[in-house]
Formats: sequence, C-alpha cells, structure tokens
Amino acid sequence: MAVERVKTGIEGLDEILHGGIPRRNIVLLSGGPGTGKTILAQQFLFNGLLAGEPGVYVALEEHPVQVRVNMAQFGWEVRKFEEEGLFAIVDAFTGGIGEAARRERYVVRAPDEFEAMVDVLRAAVRDVGAVRAVVDSVTTLYITKPVAARGIVMQLKRVLSGLGCTSFLISQVSVTERGFGGPGVEHAADGIIRLDLDEIKGRLYRSLIVWKMRGTSHSMNRHPFEITDRGIIVHAKKTLSVGVSQGEVLSHE
Ligand SMILES: Nc1ncnc2c1ncn2[C@@H]1O[C@H](COP(=O)(O)OP(=O)(O)OP(=O)(O)O)[C@@H](O)[C@H]1O
Ligand SMILES: [Mg+2]
Repeated sequence: MAVERVKTGIEGLDEILHGGIPRRNIVLLSGGPGTGKTILAQQFLFNGLLAGEPGVYVALEEHPVQVRVNMAQFGWEVRKFEEEGLFAIVDAFTGGIGEAARRERYVVRAPDEFEAMVDVLRAAVRDVGAVRAVVDSVTTLYITKPVAARGIVMQLKRVLSGLGCTSFLISQVSVTERGFGGPGVEHAADGIIRLDLDEIKGRLYRSLIVWKMRGTSHSMNRHPFEITDRGIIVHAKKTLSVGVSQGEVLSHE
C-alpha cells in the first residue's frame, strides 16, 4: 500500500521528499540561527490551510502578535483562518502577561511547565481538527534540562501523531554544531531536515538536506534554496557541494 503523504506545498521540497512527508511523521527541522526554520514551518502550515488542512503553531520564541505580523509579510494572512476555527496559535511565550496576551485563545499560563503546554496544545489540535502542527522551538522546552529532551520529544510524538498530525519540531543548533539537536531527539524523530548557511569567500549560501525520513526514499543531495518575499524555493535539480576545506562551492544541474 502506498504511503499517505502530506505535501509541504513548498516549491522543490516535495520533489526531494519523493512526494511529501509520510502522514503522522514527526520531523525535526534543525539548523543554526537565521537558516529559515521558522519561515519554512510557517509556509508548511499556511499551504495546509490553502489545501483545506487545519493547523496549529506553538509559539515559544515569539509573541503570537509578532508571529501573525511575520507571516503576513510573506502574504500568509492567518487571521481569517483563526476566526473560522481552522488555525490556532498556542501562546507559550507570554504566560498570559500583557494586554495583547489577553486576547489570545490558547495561552499556556505556566510556559515552564511542559505538561501545561501539552494540555493547551491538545485542546487546540482537537478544536481546529489540526492535521499539521509546528512547535517553534522544541529546544526552548529542554535547553535548561537536556536530560529531559528525549522524553519531551517522545511525548510530543505520542500526542501529535496520535491525534493525526504531521509535524515539524524546530530544533536550534549552534552555528558550529554538526548534529541536529542531540542523540535522544535525533533518534526519536521520524525525520530530520537540516537547514544550513555556509560562508564561502565572503558570501552566505543557503542549503538544506533531508537526513532521514521514515517511510520514504528521498534525495540524498544537499539542495540550495532561497528565501523570497513569497517564502522558500528549493532547487530540487541543483546540488550544493560545500568543500570541507571551506574551499569552492559547486552548484550544478
Ligand atoms: N522577505 C524576505 N526575503 C528574503 N529573506 C528573508 C526575508 N525575510 C527574512 N529573510 C531571511 O530569513 C532569515 C530568518 O529566517 P527564520 O526566521 O526562518 O530563521 P530561523 O532559522 O527560524 O532562525 P532562529 O533560529 O534564529 O529563530 C533572516 O535572517 C533573513 O536572512
Ligand atoms: Mg526561528
């Protein structure tokens, strides 16, 4: 039986995933600062809304108001979908403090308590009937307690996958780190997509690589991508090879 897939709707990305992300997979979206993780994840959610698939975004890094403003800059207006009950932002940022936070529907009162966050997330996923979910970022959930990382990711997997969601968990790694967020987390996830920025001869190059994706074959190449004012475009037919010695950069068809 063919595996059921969720299309990211991001140009080039479904192609290198050989059709999309297998349904219910929990995918670690990892990379250093400014590599495009948040934008890619928000585009995945918005494309879902356009395709009639409700979604939930858990904001741990930014104020929900800022999330809406940032998304709108790419033409991704989520207000209408929130009003129609098809999209929800879980505010795990403000703790309910402040005027703007009082207008949020899904607020985690104790953002430091993982269980409290999961309860609000579960309610949001059920209310909107979400089939796509994003947690931005999971790193925030265990940065002060690395031993809890695997347990936290496993529980998110049980909850999100159990409720039928295909999800991106954003994992922050430092600029020099080669991994994806730590051994427990990397093995618990069903998939890993790594986003990179490499400085070569005074210029930054963006690329991504699908490191693993349970349930499907996928491109084994490192693909260059761009961020435009309409979102991310992945060059599925191109390979970026970054020399180990920080030498040349080859980009070819
Ligand atoms: N309209 C735009 N056009 C082109 N590039 C943009 C645009 N808006 C943002 N960017 C690029 O996207 C980057 C931010 O991407 P994003 O917020 O997704 O990063 P991130 O991986 O989530 O980083 P962090 O881990 O710090 O949250 C900016 O640093 C900038 O280079
Ligand atoms: Mg981000």
